[in-house]
Amino acid sequence: MSQESKSTSSRPPVRKAVIPVAGFGTRFLPATKATPKEMFPLVDKPLTQYVVEEAVACGIEEIIFITGQAKRAIEDHFDRNIELEYLLDNKGKKKQLEQVMEIADKADFAYVRQKEVLGLGHAILQARHLIGDEPFLVMTPDDIFSGNGPASQALIDAYEETGTPIVGVQEVPKDRVHLYGIVSGEPVRDGLLKMSGIVEKPDPKTALTNLAQCGRYIFIPEIFEHFAKAEPGPGGEIHITVGTNGLISEGPVHAVTIPNQYHDAGSKIGYLQAIVEFALEREDLGDEFKAYLKKRLADEK
Ligand code: G1P
Repeated sequence: MSQESKSTSSRPPVRKAVIPVAGFGTRFLPATKATPKEMFPLVDKPLTQYVVEEAVACGIEEIIFITGQAKRAIEDHFDRNIELEYLLDNKGKKKQLEQVMEIADKADFAYVRQKEVLGLGHAILQARHLIGDEPFLVMTPDDIFSGNGPASQALIDAYEETGTPIVGVQEVPKDRVHLYGIVSGEPVRDGLLKMSGIVEKPDPKTALTNLAQCGRYIFIPEIFEHFAKAEPGPGGEIHITVGTNGLISEGPVHAVTIPNQYHDAGSKIGYLQAIVEFALEREDLGDEFKAYLKKRLADEK
């Protein structure tokens, strides 16, 4: 059946999410030599937990991590830790006990190893046997959103509206388009575009728009075949864009603007900015931290 002929109601709801976490995190060496980048905290919660909580808030029930060497800490984080629970219980630390216990119950977790690190498209392909015939959300934990509720909800809503695969996008300054997959297409309404294509990290001189994909996607199982037959491009990677362009050649794909504040936590400056944003939002820390920042900046003058 072609995508055009599948009505919105004939597509099942999005229940599964794929989270690729196998990358080496070379931009954060030496910290990432033995510690997964995805476990870096924003204050006291790891990046991956923010992403899992976002997924769960959007109705996701099953989370598939595409993992790799030196990533054991992620599995441990989303599991019970009976010894720690026992200790916290004995010390009467009820709040911390609840915090550590609830993580393992957020969703059903599955782990697949990506044996070679060949890019995000190749990572997503590893989930093929667990996805079956369902649409699925893809989330990269380098891309973090704050404010305005769970960011992936915009994609779920657009999927329910169009019945097509969805790419989450935001505008970036023209001089940063070479860092992202850049989307082009025809506007359907405010914030929704019918895609004509996507180019991975274009030269700012040739980029058709400044709409960047930013780590949230809803795909359909037809994408796997495009990843399976793709040859790794320059840099030895199979990019997500290969699969998205494959889907566009077969039927409609839409891009939706994510209405939240975006933090590129994969870059050092973006990660620092995310820490500041999340710390300022904290009830227990926000005021004190803001006062410190104000004083620190005033001292600069
Ligand atoms: C990856 C993708 C790119 C996307 C970006 C942000 O690039 O290849 O298309 O726009 O993430 O989600 P990376 O930041 O890993 O170089």
